[in-house]
Amino acid sequence: MDQFQGRVAVVTGGGSGLGRELALCCARRGMTVALGDVDEPGMAETARLIGEERPEAACTAHRVDVSDAEAMEAFADAVWRRHGGVHLLFNNAGVAVNGPLWEHTTADWQWLLGVNLHGVAWGIRAFVPRMIAQGTGYVVNTASAAGWVSAPGSGIYNASKSAVVALSETLALDLRDAGADIGVSVVSPAFFPTPIAESERNRPPELADTAPMSEARRRRSEELRYAVQHGRIPAGDIARMTLEAVEQRRFYVFPHGRIKELVRARAEAVAREDDVFDTLAGR
Ligand SMILES: NC(=O)c1ccc[n+]([C@@H]2O[C@H](COP(=O)([O-])OP(=O)(O)OC[C@H]3O[C@@H](n4cnc5c(N)ncnc54)[C@H](O)[C@@H]3O)[C@@H](O)[C@H]2O)c1
Repeated sequence: MDQFQGRVAVVTGGGSGLGRELALCCARRGMTVALGDVDEPGMAETARLIGEERPEAACTAHRVDVSDAEAMEAFADAVWRRHGGVHLLFNNAGVAVNGPLWEHTTADWQWLLGVNLHGVAWGIRAFVPRMIAQGTGYVVNTASAAGWVSAPGSGIYNASKSAVVALSETLALDLRDAGADIGVSVVSPAFFPTPIAESERNRPPELADTAPMSEARRRRSEELRYAVQHGRIPAGDIARMTLEAVEQRRFYVFPHGRIKELVRARAEAVAREDDVFDTLAGR
C-alpha cells in the first residue's frame, strides 16, 4: 500500500500493546482508525492517546470478540457504515497460555485457538470480500516467531501462530490466483514488552482456567513473563517496522533479525531429517 493519508485502518486488539501502537502509527500517517477489542477501557485509552497526538484524526472503538464470526461480520458492517470502507486490516488480537501440552484443558484450546486462529480467519471472512469488491485493500496478520520455531511450554500458542503463517501465505496466493489487488503481510516478532503475559485478564468466564498450577506450568509462565518484559524492541518500533513493510508491500516481516537465523537453522535440521530442532539451544 503506497498511500495512507485519508484511508481507513481496522486494528483488532487495538486496546493494548502492539495493537495500540499500530493504531497510533496509522493515525500519525493521517488514517482514520477503527479499533476492535473486548477491552473497552483499553480502547478508550488508545483513542485518548490518538486524540492527544492527532486531534484531527478520526477514531472509533468497537467492542468485538474476534473469536465470534458473527460479531466480526457485524464489526465489518459497522466500520463500512461509519467510515465508508477499510483499506488496511490488522488481524492482531492475541492471547497466550503456558504449560506442557498434556496439561491443557479443552477450554485452554478453545479460548486460545478462538482468539489467535479463528480471530484471524473471521477477520479474513468479514473484511476481504468487501476489500475485493472495493478494488483495494491490505491485510496484516500478527503471527509470531512461535509460528516458525517451537519453544517448549507454549504448544497451543505455537500451533496457533504456525497456522497464522500458513493462513497468511495461502491468503496471499489465493488473492493472486483471484487477480485481486489486495496486499498481505505476516509479522513475526520475538518477545517484546506488552501485557500479553496477563492475557487471562480478557479470558471469558465460560472458558475459565481450571488447569492445575503444576510446577512446569508455573515455571513456563514465569519464563514468558520475564522474556516479554525484557524484550529489547518496544512495541512502537515493531508497529513502525510493520507500517514500513506495508508501504513496501513486503510479505514477511521479521522485526527481530535473530529469528531468521533460527528459521534457517531449523530448515537445516529438517533437511538433515535430524532430531527435533531445539529452539532455545538454537540447534
Ligand atoms: N508481546 C510479545 O512478546 C509478542 C510476541 C510475538 C507476537 N505477539 C503477538 O502480538 C499480538 C498483540 O499482542 P500484545 O503483545 O500486544 O498483547 P496485549 O495483551 O497487549 O494485547 C492483546 C489485545 O488483544 C485483545 N484481545 C484478547 N482477546 C480478545 C478477543 N477475544 N477479541 C478481541 N480482542 C481480544 C486484548 O484485550 C488486548 O487488547 C498478539 O497476536 C500476540 O500473539 C506478541
